[in-house]
Amino acid sequence: MADLRSEFIGIKSPNPFWLASAPPTDKEYNVRRAFQAGWGGVVWKTLGAEGPPVVNVNGPRYGVVHGPDRRVLGLNNIELITDRPLEVNLREIKQVKRDYPDRALIISLMVPCDEDSWRDILKRIEDTGADGVELNFGCPHGMAERGMGSAVGQVPDYIEMVTRWVKQYSRMPCIVKLTPNITDVRKPAEAARRGGADAVSLINTINSITSVDLDLFAPEPTIDGKGSHGGYCGPAVKPIALNMVAEIARNPATAGLPISGIGGVTTWRDAAEFMALGAGNVQVCTAAMTYGFKVVQEMITGLHDYLDRHDMALSDLIGRAVPNVKDWQELNLNYVTKAVIDQEACIKCGRCYAACEDTSHQAIAMKSGRVFEVVEEECVACNLCVDVCPVQDCITMRELAPGETDLRTGIARGDYANWTTHPNNPAATAAE
Ligand SMILES: Cc1cc2nc3c(=O)[nH]c(=O)nc-3n(C[C@H](O)[C@H](O)[C@H](O)COP(=O)(O)O)c2cc1C
Ligand code: SF4
Ligand code: SF4
Repeated sequence: MADLRSEFIGIKSPNPFWLASAPPTDKEYNVRRAFQAGWGGVVWKTLGAEGPPVVNVNGPRYGVVHGPDRRVLGLNNIELITDRPLEVNLREIKQVKRDYPDRALIISLMVPCDEDSWRDILKRIEDTGADGVELNFGCPHGMAERGMGSAVGQVPDYIEMVTRWVKQYSRMPCIVKLTPNITDVRKPAEAARRGGADAVSLINTINSITSVDLDLFAPEPTIDGKGSHGGYCGPAVKPIALNMVAEIARNPATAGLPISGIGGVTTWRDAAEFMALGAGNVQVCTAAMTYGFKVVQEMITGLHDYLDRHDMALSDLIGRAVPNVKDWQELNLNYVTKAVIDQEACIKCGRCYAACEDTSHQAIAMKSGRVFEVVEEECVACNLCVDVCPVQDCITMRELAPGETDLRTGIARGDYANWTTHPNNPAATAAE
């Protein structure tokens, strides 16, 4: 059986599945149950500075986007950092870590952006036995308005400055949690590295309004007739998170910087995808909130089976897809495919026909008896029919053999060639 033991920036855990800082890690009761269920580590719900704890709204704090089967696709929240007293959290952290020394326990922190506040909080957590800190520069609501969270995470200079303070005043490994509410995620990651961060984690939640109540004319969740933007997470954000992780993994300025991947991880497969794109481990929130702590068991067995099937160690998986993430101009323009419809599997719904006829390249013919056939002379291989067909694998893409003629262009398939050398590229011509 593949060994799932993980070591992330020197922090050991029995598997690479950590719970992200959020309600599942809010208190000792939860974290103990999470560890019993098998989670390898947790990032404790974000602690704030000494003093009166933050106050949450007392009405609904979550909104959701459902799929047609009411599965949770996206979750929106207007919750703040922990609303429990600092000393209670610190006492509980110490007790849990003492009882679960083999699990990773990271403390998430968010305090005002001044040196004293960071020095003070780091001193307070020193003797908890925690394995590291995660700096929450991500929360997009409530705390940003007070100059914390994503208000810091959107300014690379602040990230660098705070990370430097943390490394100066603490010996703990430091993970900088990045906000996705920024144009180019490489910049804050570079700043974190400059400040001395041991790792980055991403993504925190995305600014969002999930829906509008059309009777009240207010965003949902609605608090006494008003609403506020919240932070979006869950399966819907995974593609955004994967791209951001890959951008950091392949950026020369941050290459090799350990990454903890977060955003929509629900199954072992999601986790494996993050790891293939460079994440050393993953963190999970929405899946645990939707299905309970035991979701980790599918992740553990699924990842075991996958690694065994491919005769790979966990370390072989991490970063394996990074060399295959390229800029568009590096893609092979001589790679040609054509759609193929499996007539046995087709249920004659006509969705491929409607999509291709109305919005693509009129490359699907409807013959008598509702037989749908691809017209290779017109097919540009856009994949839309594959994507809209309700029957899995009913439409597939066939790769043309080397030398085979593309019936659309009349050109035989050639060797690898990309846009940088294409005759239509003015830059390529100018370079000659
Ligand atoms: C209700 C809720 C509260 C959250 N609170 C925090 C928090 O206190 N600190 C933090 O760093 N992230 C917080 N997050 C963000 C999560 O840690 C995580 O980054 C995000 O949900 C994406 O992961 P997911 O798609 O698995 O949920 C919160 C998320 C949710 C849903
Ligand atoms: S791949 Fe695109 S162009 Fe080809 S048949 Fe399908 S929808 Fe039409
Ligand atoms: S969408 Fe799929 S099932 Fe429907 S007609 Fe086209 S090939 Fe057949």
